[in-house]
Amino acid sequence: MAYFIVQGGKKLKGSIKVNGAKNGALKSLAASLLFKDEIKITNVPRIEDVFRAEELLRKLGCEVAQKNGVVTVNPEKIKTASLDPEIAKRFRASIVFIGPLLARKGNASFPHPGGCVIGKRPIDLFLEGWRAMGSKIEETKNGYTLSAPRLMGCDFTFRNISVTGTETLMMTATLAKGKTILRNAASEPEISALAKFLNMCGAKIKGAGTHAIEIQGTGGRPLEAKGKTMQTIPDRIEAGSFLALGALLGDPLRITNCDPEHLEVPIQTLKAMGVPLKKGESWIEVSSPKKLKSVDIKTREYPGFPTDLQSLFALLLTQAEGESLVHETVFEGRLNYAEDLNRMGAKITVCDLTRALVRGKTPLRAREIESPDIRAGLAFLGAALIAKGESRINNIYQIDRGYERIEERLNKLGAEITRVNS
Ligand code: UD1
Repeated sequence: MAYFIVQGGKKLKGSIKVNGAKNGALKSLAASLLFKDEIKITNVPRIEDVFRAEELLRKLGCEVAQKNGVVTVNPEKIKTASLDPEIAKRFRASIVFIGPLLARKGNASFPHPGGCVIGKRPIDLFLEGWRAMGSKIEETKNGYTLSAPRLMGCDFTFRNISVTGTETLMMTATLAKGKTILRNAASEPEISALAKFLNMCGAKIKGAGTHAIEIQGTGGRPLEAKGKTMQTIPDRIEAGSFLALGALLGDPLRITNCDPEHLEVPIQTLKAMGVPLKKGESWIEVSSPKKLKSVDIKTREYPGFPTDLQSLFALLLTQAEGESLVHETVFEGRLNYAEDLNRMGAKITVCDLTRALVRGKTPLRAREIESPDIRAGLAFLGAALIAKGESRINNIYQIDRGYERIEERLNKLGAEITRVNS
């Protein structure tokens, strides 16, 4: 089990490049199953969840190759419609592969999905959607088996907005027979980017990026890439994570290869906290101010404040003067990092499953801590970077799931993080 040793108190100065979006690349990899021919995906981050997705595709019979972040997937020889349970359980987005697989093969089976421990994370919306398209669903002790020799378009309303639910049903509907309308759909930028590429390859999707998506299915005919390339958009969550680190330690920190338009609410939040910030078309520069102001945060679906940045911004609020309310409305159980930050000296009162009061400013002390999930893992790394003394962060597999070689990239800016493989 690898861990990080972190020397706290170092400033971060210089420029850091944002990688391709984890939550974009994973869906493009899944989308490859909708194709007849090879697809090429560029700007794919080399992170653990992507490695798992590539393994999953190989186990299904796809040929997958990678060079310098350019991944090619050839789905011509798909031999099975069952997801490898050991791999699938390791990341929640494995469920996204089921939509295209079902659409392509007429059946699919998968285990109960795994991934981050951030609340209940049920899959009822996916199941309701597939059922509405005519799929039979059998729940077994180990997971689910779906069968739909002919998927039919449908008019489907999500009871709750779901990002992967929207992407999965959008992909399933792409090869179904007839028209599908997805209402109360998620509108994250990764969804419109995916729809744009699928449309270039023969899909007929309208309205992606809004809350109503209309898909005219191909009636079972797979898509054809004919050499076209899917460009992964910049990771807005990685960029937002660097923004929080820059507000804590930037001297200044310039974040490049990002899309500031995708981060408007976090940027406005930082401005309200008094963080000096400049931005251009594809970069943002932040410095750590002498004094941070408290501010309330409420997570929301895009374009609202991203739940994936909630823990990092809560950490930032521990350094702000006064009291801030953090309200998590997307996942219940996503405040479980608070106890560890309190052990480091923070004053966070968890009021209930969704709300926490952060009182600042509190200096943090170094400690040994365990990453519970990708984002809280990065918040702990941030906490160790501002704490006095030497911290140890365990279970860094969780951080590696979403951030590529994070220690090397931050060390270039002045951090002192050592990876120890034990
Ligand atoms: C995706 C992102 C994740 C991000 C989240 C919210 C990927 C791989 N992951 O996760 O990084 O934190 O969006 O922006 O893209 N829900 C149900 N039933 C379902 C599905 C979801 O009740 O069948 C609930 C969830 O428990 C949660 C809410 O819907 O409370 C939103 O979750 P959802 O948007 O589905 O998150 P993911 O797509 O899993």
